Amino acid sequence: MDRLDPNRLPRHVAIIMDGNGRWAQKRLLNRVAGHEEGAESVRAVIETARRIGIPHLTLYAFSKENWQRPKHEVQALWQLLRRFIRSERPKLLENRIRVRHFGDPEGIPEDVYAEFASLIRETAGFDKLTVNLALNYGGRQEILRAAALFAEDVRAGRCNPSDLTQEAFEKHLFTADTPELDLLIRTSGECRVSNFLLWQLAYAEIYITETLWPDFREPQFIEALLDYQRRERRFGKTSEQLRSSIPPNS
Ligand code: FPP
Repeated sequence: MDRLDPNRLPRHVAIIMDGNGRWAQKRLLNRVAGHEEGAESVRAVIETARRIGIPHLTLYAFSKENWQRPKHEVQALWQLLRRFIRSERPKLLENRIRVRHFGDPEGIPEDVYAEFASLIRETAGFDKLTVNLALNYGGRQEILRAAALFAEDVRAGRCNPSDLTQEAFEKHLFTADTPELDLLIRTSGECRVSNFLLWQLAYAEIYITETLWPDFREPQFIEALLDYQRRERRFGKTSEQLRSSIPPNS
């Protein structure tokens, strides 16, 4: 069997965790049971990322669009997140895992956000693995927020419109202190990005698997990473340029 090359691990992996509802339907269970089993997969991928040494993991747990789901499902999702934050806290602290929030705090139920914010504070100094939970997150909203923050810097006289480079803009994204996104994984076979990390996806490798999220555990994660390691990332260059050290334009 193929082995992971520890020197070529992605530094930043993001996951669209899709298929909880279908997993439940197949078993004649309600959708919330699918989300609950999905939370077990979240535990599994965090544990695997820590064990093999992936330093940044971003998980799409609740999108801006998810508010349109039936009210009872939305409530159940937030309660599940709160239970998850509570139950995982000791393990996260013990394993020195930093937790951060990508998304809009406004709108998240206050009791959930209070516990989440205190976990973020408690783990802020850790560096073993960073888990970014995308909650009440939208990629377009993130770009608009960054544009507004840059405009505010201009208005306050801290910079000029002509200072707007990619690097200057990225400083206002949630991913400001995070390495480039290397790999996006999406479960359950849908081929779309669903308003996730739109800016950061520019050069990411995309891996789509038919596996439903509750069935995505360590073996499936390793398979995605092996697939990533078989790819050639060219960043706009040719294969020949990558294999030799021919400089661009020659
Ligand atoms: C998509 O499946 C999944 C979600 C909208 C929520 C993701 C939540 C979890 C994985 C559980 C809790 C998360 C954490 C961090 C503890 P879907 O319901 O859209 O599935 P379907 O497309 O089959 O209906």
